[in-house]
Amino acid sequence: MQRKGDSTAKTSRRRFLGTTGAVAAGAALVRPSAARAAGETLALHGGPKAVTVPHADAARWPLYGKEEEDAIVAFLRNPGYGPNEELEREWQEYYQVPYVKSYCNGTSALTAMFFGLNLPPGSEIMVPSYTFFATIVPMRLFGLVPVFVDIHPRTMNFDLNDAKKRLTKNTRAVLPVHWFGNPADMDEICDWAKEKGLIVLEDCAHAQGTRLKGKLMGTWGEASITSFQQTKPVPGIEGGMGIYQNRECYERATALGHYEVPKSYPEDSPYRRYAVSGMGLKLRMHPMCAVLARLQLKRLDQRSKEGVAQTRSLNDRLTQLPGLYDQKTRPDAQRLYYDQNTLFIDEAEAGMSRETLIKALNAEGVMARPFVYPLQHKLALYAEAQWWHHKPVIPDVLPGSEQCNATAIFLPYFTKPVPELVEQYVKAFEKVWAHRKSLKA
Ligand SMILES: Cc1ncc(COP(=O)(O)O)c(C=O)c1O
Repeated sequence: MQRKGDSTAKTSRRRFLGTTGAVAAGAALVRPSAARAAGETLALHGGPKAVTVPHADAARWPLYGKEEEDAIVAFLRNPGYGPNEELEREWQEYYQVPYVKSYCNGTSALTAMFFGLNLPPGSEIMVPSYTFFATIVPMRLFGLVPVFVDIHPRTMNFDLNDAKKRLTKNTRAVLPVHWFGNPADMDEICDWAKEKGLIVLEDCAHAQGTRLKGKLMGTWGEASITSFQQTKPVPGIEGGMGIYQNRECYERATALGHYEVPKSYPEDSPYRRYAVSGMGLKLRMHPMCAVLARLQLKRLDQRSKEGVAQTRSLNDRLTQLPGLYDQKTRPDAQRLYYDQNTLFIDEAEAGMSRETLIKALNAEGVMARPFVYPLQHKLALYAEAQWWHHKPVIPDVLPGSEQCNATAIFLPYFTKPVPELVEQYVKAFEKVWAHRKSLKA
């Protein structure tokens, strides 16, 4: 859709404290109850569990209610594609951008975005290896080639210093991902890209409504995408959206998967002639998903704010424990949390391994697990020259990505206030920390 009129320090003793624009650091210290915890027997050793509140429902997502049910029933009684256009209009209004287009998912929005760039085959795009396949693999279809960039092990985001080392004469674009709703350093990335003449793109699949320096993620780059898949912050079960700052990219990207749209392009558009035939794909969003996404968009800002408060109420206390950190967020960023609550262990500082910690926490009733995300550059597809204009360079090692995978711990992301459960989680961690010397195998 086109807009009308357009043609690490934790306080002092820690290296960092993850903050958000919305929540001030100032959590209660765990000290007083730590002494009590030392006198209690670990559940692992036969003591009572710290976590007794049933909490299968505390991380429920998506949160659909009567309004969604009624809207779906109303849609079934009067089906049509209207919700797609309405979602596009609302998205455009929220983001204040010249062009948007809805897609059947984030993967198809990425595919169309790569086509929209109109880059010559062999053009390289810098992208984290630590991402979902969809951020990278569709490049292949247009002769584009990924250059795998490392992430910072604690922000989980695009490491600009590493990218600088990987620039080649073929590099044309950078594509940071705002991982788990944590805005990447787009100010610095955009400055560098401008200096080098690179196009800036963004994958905002996890980061709807988040901001850096007050500017919405998805509006820093020339083009960006988001996903409405059901775990995402605006869940439509499936669906995606592209944002485009320039007409050429919008018209070309949209022509790929929306055969019916080019007839609405201005007379002078080079893509208008592809009306009716389209360009070979049909990537329209299911309008029932748009019905859901529209309702969820209305709640996005409030929910994100509440989610940040809920997560901080736990993490600001847990990260007082030596060797436990959370995802580092810039103070000038307004993030959201989504899907999982990620913590990191520094095993040397904690005095125990991640495996030992998780085993002890699980025994206490904490739903914790190690988080290891498959790194794209290690997958077979990238090693086989036949699929690429020129074979991607496979880095020997991406230390930040490896460190992230060796240290990340998932806790549930509580999607509603659960103060009693938060207390019990804190207690469980304190117990384990109080006994960590005896746990050291
Ligand atoms: C970072 C990232 N980019 C893109 C996508 C693709 O979105 P979709 O699942 O809607 O195709 C996902 C989905 O999980 C994702 O995590």
